[in-house]
Amino acid sequence: MAAAGETGQWRTGGGFILAALGSAVGLGNVWRFSYVAGENGGGAFVAAYLVAVLAFGLPLLIAEVAIGRGSPSDPVAAFARIAPRRPWRWTGWLGVAACVAILGYYPTISGWVANYLWRYAAQGGLATGAADYATWFRAVLADPVQAVFWPAATLAIAGGIVALGVARGIERASKVLMPLFVLLLVALASHGLSLDGAGRALSFLFRPDWSALLQPRTWLAAVGQAFFSIGLAMGILVTFGGYLAERHRLVPLSLAVVIGDTGVSLVAGLVIFPAVFTYGFDPAHGTTLVFAVLPEVFAAMPAERAVAVAFFLLLMIAALTSVVSLIEVPVALLIARCGWRRPWAAAVATAAMFALGLPAALGFGVLVPYLPGPAPFLDRLDLLASDILLPLSGIAIALTAGWQWRREDSLRATGIAPGLGATLWLWSLRVGLPVAIGLAMARGLGLL
Ligand code: PFF
Repeated sequence: MAAAGETGQWRTGGGFILAALGSAVGLGNVWRFSYVAGENGGGAFVAAYLVAVLAFGLPLLIAEVAIGRGSPSDPVAAFARIAPRRPWRWTGWLGVAACVAILGYYPTISGWVANYLWRYAAQGGLATGAADYATWFRAVLADPVQAVFWPAATLAIAGGIVALGVARGIERASKVLMPLFVLLLVALASHGLSLDGAGRALSFLFRPDWSALLQPRTWLAAVGQAFFSIGLAMGILVTFGGYLAERHRLVPLSLAVVIGDTGVSLVAGLVIFPAVFTYGFDPAHGTTLVFAVLPEVFAAMPAERAVAVAFFLLLMIAALTSVVSLIEVPVALLIARCGWRRPWAAAVATAAMFALGLPAALGFGVLVPYLPGPAPFLDRLDLLASDILLPLSGIAIALTAGWQWRREDSLRATGIAPGLGATLWLWSLRVGLPVAIGLAMARGLGLL
């Protein structure tokens, strides 16, 4: 989580946008967007995603920031403040649950990034021997030492940053590194577009198979991905809103965050899918797609090592800032509710996260016989977060903000003038979002 200024407020609206984008842009835009789009039919998913972002993500983002604005407090308390009666006061806890579920596997994937970074930087490459990258990566996943070491290293660094307090360094670093990340992504995407598979990739990504849009699963996946990627329904943006001064207009700021985050995901799609088709991968490869495909892209480039190091370094930073934001949620709670000191809270939360992450980390190898079901545990935890916890938390936030908050108060907090915009925003929270997402959930999970 990035720091507010000396006064406890973002000095500029740009500061808020950058901080929110720092939390939003992460593995979700590169690793998750590509695998979920690949598994859900490409173009249909992208179309549903854009609708989900604008129709559900944006109103919810505005609501969350507005709930946080005016009273910097932990996300659970912020909900209890606007809706003191049960069961609404529990809304904040759903977000915390989603956060914890995501923390159960996000460090594992950050660990994969760290592992690749180390190999390209220190060993000159992946040294796969005779194996292709996908086969080699499966062996890496099954190795218990690597599976535990890299997430532990990632968590230790993120936990250290959280323990030190909200680091100035990381906020300053993200100001330089996030634009660099985007530049590199654009450069890689233009390389992607020069590959043989570019045409197929473009039609896969941007020519929707309309019949797939009739499937509730596509919509549920789109909503889950939108919330995950923007960082919604987890209490993060409530906290960020606490640092936003009254004078900043919330709607344009929120729009900028949503457009920035979505733009990064789409460009990442242009890096990954041309390579997927050029090198004969199945787009529905699952959670390990990026790690099997990207090395192929880099190997075909003249400055393979330099580009790979730069790419994984920036992805690592994007991942790390996100892990920091995720750990900050339980840490803020432990400090606020149990009166713990920050370093102690950070140490305990980080250690607990490490333990919580073991099933996902080891679920490709030694723990396979002990974990139920055919899919890797990591994939199932990811679905628990995105198909169940995030949508449920989003519905609860929308209902709380729409029905429990006094209309005048909510409009004052958002800065939305009474009129058509206000009515649309309110009713999308009151009815549109809960009904649409509730239906997509029920049908997508086979409950209806
Ligand atoms: N939005 C991040 C991503 O797309 O990778 C994930 C995330 C990070 C969610 C931090 C929430 C958060 F606080």
